[in-house]
Amino acid sequence: MLAGKRILLIISGGIAAYKALELIRRLKDRGAAVRAILTRGGAEFVTPLSVAALSGEKVYTDLFSLTDESEMGHIRLSREADLVVVAPASADLMAKMAAGMADDLATTALLATDKPVMIAPAMNTMMWQHPATLANIETLARRGILRVGPGAGDLACGEVGEGRMAEPADILAAIETYFRTGARLAGRAALVTSGPTHEAIDPVRFLANRSSGRQGHAIAAALAALGAEVHLVSGPTAEPDPLGVRTTHVQSAREMLDACLAALPVEVAVCAAAVADWRPAEVAPAKMKKTGAAAPKLALVANPDILKTLAEAGNRRPRLLIGFAAETQDLIRNAIEKRKKKGCDWILANDVSPGTGIFGGAENRVHLITEAGAEDWEPASKRAIADRLAQRIADHLQQSAA
Ligand code: CTP
Repeated sequence: MLAGKRILLIISGGIAAYKALELIRRLKDRGAAVRAILTRGGAEFVTPLSVAALSGEKVYTDLFSLTDESEMGHIRLSREADLVVVAPASADLMAKMAAGMADDLATTALLATDKPVMIAPAMNTMMWQHPATLANIETLARRGILRVGPGAGDLACGEVGEGRMAEPADILAAIETYFRTGARLAGRAALVTSGPTHEAIDPVRFLANRSSGRQGHAIAAALAALGAEVHLVSGPTAEPDPLGVRTTHVQSAREMLDACLAALPVEVAVCAAAVADWRPAEVAPAKMKKTGAAAPKLALVANPDILKTLAEAGNRRPRLLIGFAAETQDLIRNAIEKRKKKGCDWILANDVSPGTGIFGGAENRVHLITEAGAEDWEPASKRAIADRLAQRIADHLQQSAA
């Protein structure tokens, strides 16, 4: 699968550096040639000898080694690769990359390379969530740097949370996807909401709508097929979890919002869920009984607007935020208005009038509303619409990175 591919692996400082050894072994098993740069920090965690033994190549560690420079040179080192992978990418190294610093071999090679770069961040949760790190991630994403992980779990520092480096198998999968598909979205994080929400009235009853989740799930699958790291937050649907997509199941709008906020930062978010606009003001703790002739009165309160909340998330706002507009009249005009009101970048407008069969059906007809205006997309299956949207997203991210 990776035969003939040349990977330059940069190992920076962090306890996760030991996983880089496993990554080298797996890459070599797949036929890739791996050359490694070990930063000074990285060398505190794994030895040059282990890296050299596994990669079967000399390990590069010091920018100012005259021998290294005359044999290889940092420019050649960074260009004689098909892909540069930084695993683990420490908060410090990412900050240096974002700032364009070049004070050691790793950062110099990263600044000098003309090849795609994929990072696998690893750090403590607080460091990962620090606005400085988030801003650096955003800067790197805008430059087209690919990213895999981090995931959540037990961290070496004893805390639990996000910041754990992606497993070698996941990094390998991202690398393989990159080479297989041109992986236009490899290493890019995406969030998709899908399905309806259920708003409880009592332990057995709820308010809901007819959304099937088909369009949202198809979008999650289409983004994953282009190599994106997709987090799908889904209300109750009969749709299976798409392969290769991390899926969180929720019931209510408030749960959906919490799951979406926890999935940030992402580069692109597509809000395809039909979120209930209102929920019962109070949930009866026990099943409501018929106590007389009068039917109970259901008082409703407004649910949070997830799309709008993401639009207003400041430095955590997805770089490309896409919503849907389900309308039954004045489709385009309402959708253009909705795009402004919600503060999102694009809106996919669809007519959900009875008789169109769109809500819950397999086909869709959408209009893409962007800053530039409205585009009419011909009717197609929800899957085909999802593929077209994923390609369009990839075009946009590539252009805006340039
Ligand atoms: N949306 C959301 N959270 C809500 C309501 C809607 O995230 N509480 C998102 C939907 O996922 C969709 C977009 O907002 O991407 C528009 O949804 P739509 O139902 O068309 O619009 P509403 O905001 O509900 O406005 P209205 O019902 O007045 O048309």
